[in-house]
This record gives sequence, C-alpha cells and structure tokens, in this order.
Amino acid sequence: MRTLRDIQALRDALGEYRRRGQRIALVPTMGNLHAGHLTLVESARRNADVVVASLFVNPMQFGPGEDLDAYPRTFAEDQQQLETNDCDVLFAPTTATLYPFGLEQQSRVHVPGVSEGLCGGTRPGHFDGVATVVTMLFNLVQPDSAFFGEKDYQQLAVIRKLVRDLHMPVEIVGVPIVRAEDGLALSSRNGYLDASQRAIAPQLHRTLQRLRQDLEAGKPASAVLQQGREALHDAGFVPDYLELRDPLLGPVTPATRNAVLLVAAQLGPARLIDNLGVCLP
Ligand code: PAJ
Repeated sequence: MRTLRDIQALRDALGEYRRRGQRIALVPTMGNLHAGHLTLVESARRNADVVVASLFVNPMQFGPGEDLDAYPRTFAEDQQQLETNDCDVLFAPTTATLYPFGLEQQSRVHVPGVSEGLCGGTRPGHFDGVATVVTMLFNLVQPDSAFFGEKDYQQLAVIRKLVRDLHMPVEIVGVPIVRAEDGLALSSRNGYLDASQRAIAPQLHRTLQRLRQDLEAGKPASAVLQQGREALHDAGFVPDYLELRDPLLGPVTPATRNAVLLVAAQLGPARLIDNLGVCLP
C-alpha cells in the first residue's frame, strides 16, 4: 500500500492506474478505523481494481465546542489495518494541504433539504463541511465509485443528492451498519464511553428494535416515538432526536410503506447515532 500525503503525489499515482484503464474506488474516513470502516474497504475491493482510502479529520465538519481536538487519532494502527485489508492507496493529507487559505476563505458546498433537520438541526454547518470535503476528495481522486456507511444515514442521503445535483460522475454505494455483538453500531466515538456507559449504549439499538415492532404492529407513530424518547431518557441518554422518516428523509405519509427510524442521543461524553428500517403496515 502506498501512503500519500500530498496532492501531486496522489494525482501521479492515480494517473498511472487510470491510464491502464483500472477502476478506482474511494473510501473516505476520518481514521480510528474499526470493522465498520473495513467493511467499506472490503466492498470497495470487490467493486474496483484500485482501492483508495482517505484519512482526514475534517475540521470544517466540527462545530465550535465539538470534539475536533479529542477525536481519536491512531494513524499507525489505521495504516496497518488498511494494509492488511488490501487497500492500495492511503491518502492522508494535512489540514494545510486541503485548506491552504484557511477555513474562513474556503469555498463551501451546501446541499439544501436533506441537510436540514436531524443531525443538521443540532449540528449547524456540519453537512456543509462534509459535502465540501467529499467534493474535494472526489475532485482529487476522481473515483468511479465511493463507499459510505448506512450508519450515517443522513450523510449518505446528503452525498447522494450532492452527486446528483452537481452531475458528479461517481457511483455512490451504501454499506449496511456493522454492529458489536450486543447491537451497538460500531463508531469511533464509542471509545469515549466508560464501562458503565458502554453497558447502557446497546439500549439505543434495542429501543429502535422495540419501536419497529410496535410500528409494524400498526401502533400510531407519534405515541410510539414519544415512548421511545422516554425509554431512552430513563436508560440514561439525553435524546437529541428520534424520528420516523421516509427513505429519502421526507415526512412519512399514510401511503408510506418503507420508512426509517433515526435516532441521535448523548450518552455521557459521546453523541451516538443509529437507524433502522421499518415496513409500515
Ligand atoms: P467516519 O466517521 O470515519 O466514517 C467513515 C465511513 O465509515 C462513513 O461512510 C461511515 O458511515 C462509515 N461507518 C462508520 N461506522 C460504521 C459502521 N458501524 N458500519 C458501517 N459503516 C460505518 O463519516 C465520516 O468519517 C466523515 O464524515 C467523512 C465522510 C469521511 C467526511 O469527512
């Protein structure tokens, strides 16, 4: 695996593959890799000739007071894991490389509609930061396909709209959530939890499963969601949102059959998110 830190080296390396007609897949990450990230690399491996992973803790997508400084940085281990998982190129730029003129002067990409509400409501500007860095990575790598986890459901919806609206020639592939045995969705932020919080954390997924049963049994959504918020609160979470949306994140109507439950909740120092598909009767 080649580790590249600057733009010219990346362009030179990828130019060689492209001249040979090889198909390039991109897996964007912020590092501190776990099995969720590695499943994206595996899917990319099956889809393309060349797998490029990017590792960049993107300051533009963190709000003031969020965990940019605390975000776990484990470069040597990440590099090792990517190497073991048959990644071809690791692109790990510095902030000065991607934002040479500083964040204030940086052009930004805004994706209206799907960026609003849910995580976009609580984290203003977050999805502009994501859309901007992903646009930049697509311009730098020019991948044929790019892989994103369904764990970050709204992020995936934002990126699908971004690519469609700006006619970007890249196929977006969503990959199912990888969970720990107790159901907790794997996340770099799980590392912020102490042992007692870690024991509570799986309640997030269990609550979604219970709510799905109730919704699929035909109970009214507003009452089910209210019970869910109370259950999370009683378990020790501070719920941020718990919502039922259609798969494109629009409102559920009486005609909606496939829907998705989306949750974000604070547990001690960690903001956890999860989601679960529901078939409404
Ligand atoms: P990061 O949180 O590092 O996640 C990188 C990718 O891994 C995302 O597509 C995310 O959805 C996926 N992922 C994380 N946990 C997962 C799990 N348990 N199962 C399946 N996929 C999982 O998301 C970001 O970084 C950034 O916002 C980024 C897209 C890189 C832009 O900076």
